[in-house]
Amino acid sequence: MENLNFYNLKEDTVLEDKEIIENLESSSQKKINSKHLYDEIGSKLFEKITNLDDYYPTRSELEILEKKNVFKKNLPESASVIEFGSGSYKKVKKLLEALNNPKEYIPIDISYEFLKTNAKAFAKKFPKINVKAVCADFNQIQSLKKIVQHKSKNLGFFPGSTIGNFVPDEAQKLLKKFAKILGKDNYLVIGVDIRKDKKLMEKAYNDSQGVTAEFNKNILKGINKKTGAKFKTEYFEHFAYFNDDEKRIEMHLISKKNQIVNISNKKIRFDKGETIHTENSYKYSIEEFKKLSISSGYKVIDFVTDKNKYFGVFFLKVIQT
Ligand code: AVJ
Repeated sequence: MENLNFYNLKEDTVLEDKEIIENLESSSQKKINSKHLYDEIGSKLFEKITNLDDYYPTRSELEILEKKNVFKKNLPESASVIEFGSGSYKKVKKLLEALNNPKEYIPIDISYEFLKTNAKAFAKKFPKINVKAVCADFNQIQSLKKIVQHKSKNLGFFPGSTIGNFVPDEAQKLLKKFAKILGKDNYLVIGVDIRKDKKLMEKAYNDSQGVTAEFNKNILKGINKKTGAKFKTEYFEHFAYFNDDEKRIEMHLISKKNQIVNISNKKIRFDKGETIHTENSYKYSIEEFKKLSISSGYKVIDFVTDKNKYFGVFFLKVIQT
């Protein structure tokens, strides 16, 4: 396809393996970084989650993306659209339809296979838009800056409340990095899950079809493949709950028994009931998220929510980099 180019910035995995092992050796709380949930199978399972009745965020955000006049009014024409974490093109398609004459689409994702499939489908569907698909971690700022140039207006798109995966301090750092990549006077459209009734939130992460449980356990298969670890998924159980103090949904895998898991040349001991923390999903109030945006160098130019007020889309402009 003539309108499609790939850039693979993914770094050596040796350091990553070391980090995985260190996080599992911790005596206080074992963890696995949530980015490992999104390997090829994980990304497919997540896609399945977004279509579940119990999982309200995607449905609510798609409803907001229908408000095309709000997007047109607030955003520049001939923009270069940079999507931080490329999902299926369902969301960005709606954004592009609302914009005047978008020029370029730059999806950035850590899952190469998923990125490839989505970017190809997108390039075929939008032959007039130039696609630069980048396989990278959001933290690879310097390399990313070289691909995202500042010739036209840049419009960052960070849907799905992915920002919720980061603890607020890290979220602020990430928003600052996005500001650097996008450049001053450019835009960021960001989707955020708004804090609400606890039962509703918890149901979204404990769906009745068990897809989220499968998604969570799949992280272990990915770690096995990546590091040669010997996790047995049947010896772990999915657990997700809203942590009131931290204002976040936490996903864990609970060890069903005392067990020892080999990883590299190490032995990791699990007590029955001990957990591996696999993901955080922070839920913000509208005011909290506005504050976070401002403290990260942005001006909040507009905010839209769905009819239930479950989800928010914030329109931000970069003031400071
Ligand atoms: C893609 C990180 C936004 O936190 O809701 C869904 C991931 N985890 N179900 C979220 C997820 C379990 C999702 N994010």
